[in-house]
Amino acid sequence: MKNIVLIGFMGSGKSSVGRFFATHHRMKQIDTDQYIENREKRKISQIFETDGEEAFRRMETDTVKELLQTEKKDIILSVGGGLPMREENRALLKEFGTVIYLKASVDTLEHRLSFDKSRPLLQGGNLREKIETLMAKREQVYEDLADYVILTDGKGISTVEREIMLAMEGEE
Ligand code: S3P
Repeated sequence: MKNIVLIGFMGSGKSSVGRFFATHHRMKQIDTDQYIENREKRKISQIFETDGEEAFRRMETDTVKELLQTEKKDIILSVGGGLPMREENRALLKEFGTVIYLKASVDTLEHRLSFDKSRPLLQGGNLREKIETLMAKREQVYEDLADYVILTDGKGISTVEREIMLAMEGEE
């Protein structure tokens, strides 16, 4: 199958949907956060703390460039929520595969992220406000980049999987 790229806000289910989809469709799942953590041998939160966000963003771009050289098909790639914010990355993602935005409401995201300690951009202060502020900057970028938008609120993982399959049927 053609490569698939899952984009969306933190907590929108990109990694779990990617894993589920990959096992059911004999694809390989790659997650940019995981890829960076494996290569750096440290957590994203440590990278943010020691090297800063800009350094992490460069690592994201390098990761997608590297994957473009090596992974031609049958990949479902989940990318960090901030990765599509760089214009350069958007072009790379488009080149990599069909882009699907997993869209979730602020209510859903707040619920899913309420005990999260792994995402540096959401620590401290009011979670809902942080989500709303970031979402206001990102929503349109996600929408514009996506070939398909899938609403995930209240849906189980297998429903989302089916909707991705439906989208991909039109892609071959
Ligand atoms: C980020 C999202 C995270 C991770 C980092 C920054 C963001 O990935 O890359 O904490 O800027 O939205 P997930 O979207 O997989 O949580």
